[in-house]
Amino acid sequence: MTADLPTRLRGVVGPAGLVEDPAGFLTDWRGAYSGTAAAVVRPGSTEEVAAVVGLCRELGVAVVPQGGNTGLCGGAVPDASGRQVVLSLTRMRRIRDLDVANSTITVEAGVVLRTVQEAAAAAGRLFPLSLGAEGSCTIGGNRATNAGGTGVLRYGTMRDLTLGLEVVLPDGRVWHGLRGLRKDNTGYDLKQLFVGAEGTLGVITAAVLELFPAVRNRATAWVALPDPQAAVDLIGVVRESTGDRLTAFELMSRRSVEFVLRHGAGVRDPIADVHPWYALIELSDTLPDAGLDAVVEAALGEAVERGVAADAVVASGSGQVAALWALREGISEAQNPEGPSLKHDVTVPIGSIPAFVAATDRALAEALPGVRVVAYGHVGDGNLHYNLSGPEPRDDAAFRARAGVLSRIVHDSAAAFDGSISAEHGLGQAKRDVIADYKSPLELELMRGVKQLLDPAGLMNPGKVLPG
Ligand code: FAD
Ligand code: MLT
Ligand code: ZN
Repeated sequence: MTADLPTRLRGVVGPAGLVEDPAGFLTDWRGAYSGTAAAVVRPGSTEEVAAVVGLCRELGVAVVPQGGNTGLCGGAVPDASGRQVVLSLTRMRRIRDLDVANSTITVEAGVVLRTVQEAAAAAGRLFPLSLGAEGSCTIGGNRATNAGGTGVLRYGTMRDLTLGLEVVLPDGRVWHGLRGLRKDNTGYDLKQLFVGAEGTLGVITAAVLELFPAVRNRATAWVALPDPQAAVDLIGVVRESTGDRLTAFELMSRRSVEFVLRHGAGVRDPIADVHPWYALIELSDTLPDAGLDAVVEAALGEAVERGVAADAVVASGSGQVAALWALREGISEAQNPEGPSLKHDVTVPIGSIPAFVAATDRALAEALPGVRVVAYGHVGDGNLHYNLSGPEPRDDAAFRARAGVLSRIVHDSAAAFDGSISAEHGLGQAKRDVIADYKSPLELELMRGVKQLLDPAGLMNPGKVLPG
């Protein structure tokens, strides 16, 4: 590395592209991961990204791609060496094209997710990816983490929504793969290598995304449930009567909701009686007069009759809909004031969720009596955020000291139920060593082979994803 690296980088990106006060780029959203950097750059174009990556390659300097920095496993944060360059995509925020006939939108990597949703809506279309961080996270970060969120049940993950990509490779060359095709059987699907690679194989600079018909009728309901088995049964009941109009099915334990009621602003309990679990259900249709309120009321009436649901309210009006979603979307943030949290972003086959919860609760209670399980998530697609907070009264140091043991219990349990230890947040630095215990030697060998092919110098986001 040369001492004049910042000067040479300024020569590539200009004064507007070299960050003078890098503090906000060195720590993640939660404050859980911090590092230092030789420089932080914000290139304004694909050509500038390519020139930065090429210069870093020439000087043997590692590059850490960064979007909105909302990732939950430290993937966008540099290490402590002070020798890495953070490459923020946040100045690349142009919508390059919106093709109504093809139902696609072409956007640069730094465009914030909500901006894409709004642009699609203005054109009478829907971009269905939706998650709690949508006001800050970027399309590049969504793609690099294969983000999921609340619409996966109906529309799939970011992988399913991506038709084309433009990528700066670790050697500085640009792969122009911005095609808006739904069918292309001309060999390996290269774009999928970069989706979910968490910036370890190249820098995504733009993407073609699939759009859908706008939703014109929606029904949202809050359902009280006795246990997770009731949630699984309820998915069946609702699906039977509403088909693919079920677009979201989120499960929340009472404790998750209590945290939001305790720490969130302007929130209130939708059902006066306390129940152990709740589901937030959303149905949607493209026909304005689909009458979904009546459909959901009938389905939930049947669920209560069959003893699957204990109680339910259907939201009337956009204010109530927003209030219900605020309870769900507020959980991640509401866990912070309760002390250090251990995040486990697991997935198991949907039918195994009740047994997974029971077995894991039991094992954790034995390992650390009083540990507070904060379980919630996108249960309609099998993804449970099985987070932990320490026992009360709090002893944060003692809880942190047990982190490895507790996480091992949760991950082993997910594996025992044929699940995965990460459904949507990825591995980053948090789980990059842990993953070695849950992938076969052949899988690890193939992953290392792909990395070696694309990044033989190991300069693209080193220390992330692949076990050391
Ligand atoms: P960053 O955090 O900046 O980066 C994430 C990773 O992608 C890093 O490894 C980084 O190096 C890499 N990267 C970023 N941009 C690029 C690029 N252009 N090219 C190559 N690599 C790049 N995630 C879900 O999937 N579902 C949820 O429901 C969900 N809910 C959340 C709720 C809250 C409140 C918060 C804070 C986070 C949530 N997340 C969720 C996690 C996070 O928001 C997503 O992972 C998001 O996709 C990250 O986008 P970002 O732009 O912030 O990426
Ligand atoms: C969410 O769905 O709220 C997040 O992905 C979960 C989390 O922050 O743990
Ligand atoms: Zn999630």
